[in-house]
Amino acid sequence: MDFTLTETQTLIRDTARKVAREVVAPQARAVDREERFPKEVYTQLGELGLLGVNVPEAYGGAEAGVVSYALAMMEISAACASTSVGMAVTNMAAELICTYGTEEQKKKHVTALVSGRAVAGAFALSEPHAGSDAGALRTSATRKGDRWVLNGAKQWITSGAYAGVMVVWARTSSEGNKGLSCFIVEGGTPGLIVGRAEDKMGLRGSNTVPLTFESCEVPLENLLGREGDGFKLAMVALDGGRIGISAQACGVARAALEASVRYAKERKAFGQPIAEFQGLRWMMADMQTRLSAAELLCLRAAQLKEAKRPFSREASMAKLFCSETSNWVCDRAVQIHGGYGYIDEFPVERYLRDARVQTIYEGTSEIQRLVIAREIFKAVGA
Ligand code: CAA
Repeated sequence: MDFTLTETQTLIRDTARKVAREVVAPQARAVDREERFPKEVYTQLGELGLLGVNVPEAYGGAEAGVVSYALAMMEISAACASTSVGMAVTNMAAELICTYGTEEQKKKHVTALVSGRAVAGAFALSEPHAGSDAGALRTSATRKGDRWVLNGAKQWITSGAYAGVMVVWARTSSEGNKGLSCFIVEGGTPGLIVGRAEDKMGLRGSNTVPLTFESCEVPLENLLGREGDGFKLAMVALDGGRIGISAQACGVARAALEASVRYAKERKAFGQPIAEFQGLRWMMADMQTRLSAAELLCLRAAQLKEAKRPFSREASMAKLFCSETSNWVCDRAVQIHGGYGYIDEFPVERYLRDARVQTIYEGTSEIQRLVIAREIFKAVGA
């Protein structure tokens, strides 16, 4: 087992680290406080290849693999999780179209996504009554001449008000999971109505909106994959997406730990820096140990995906462990900062608010356990 990064992986990580430190981090607090979608940053991420890290060069991507993608996500997330969630969803949409799209779909939509021309991608699966139970979605798509006509409502759509390219799930027949299909819908298509942005606890610079489809027509060629294969497409995309959110969780946790170390060296109590107290040193040792374990699980899932081996269980284990760890580490970071951890003068309160959704989106911790258990029972015979 080799833990050494390749030249490409090092390059992508360093590129992401540079833009994270020089561009993303300095505005992270304002992006959060002012609920400002960092639109211009996505153009830069696109120019650097970070919106299509695992996308072939032929479609404008960096073709740098899944491990590189996870490393890049960790870096951008350590600076600003609001920015990195949009980056994650854009990479996810681009990869899905690359995997299942026709040549025309890839040339048109993947290049728009990874270059930043589309600003961001969106992943419209969840509905007001169908989150964990994705197969229960009700949005419909019916064929009318040379168009598909979409009707229904979507909920919690990341970057929904800005996304130039969306992948949207809709029901093309009543046959449960097998009745779902996936469509590419461009932002601004008539009949696509963007609702009021949610006022969220964290990730306040990320745009989260409900979408309504009212007789929204798209050409027949915007069907992604085969009719009826939509559920499978969603599951495949989410397996990969969970690696992205695992990496996000690791990035935020790392930032929280580093902020705690810096603070503990400076803050004095009882005549010495609080870093000298064993209680705090042990806390930070545990934070680092859990974080390192999380990073390994995340990179292991990424490596399996990159090697084109099954990785569903590993992606769910990574998502479960990294997101729970991130919440624990950020909570400890606030504790170490005392009263200063509870005000916005220090970034740890933002880290904790941003981490909270990680155990919820891209499948809750409970759904990850369900997937992990299902895979264990599949693997171990009678
Ligand atoms: N890869 C390929 N196929 C898969 C699969 C996978 N990972 N998982 C399931 N399937 C296939 C199954 O093999 C099965 O196929 P057959 O019918 O041919 O046998 C079919 O899909 C149905 O599978 P299940 O019976 O397991 O389906 P289910 O209805 O029990 O649901 C679930 C499974 C895991 C709970 C799924 O619904 C799920 O993942 N729910 C969570 C949804 C989620 O993560 N939403 C996040 C929204 S996106 C988001 O948050 C983005 C953002 O903004 C950041």
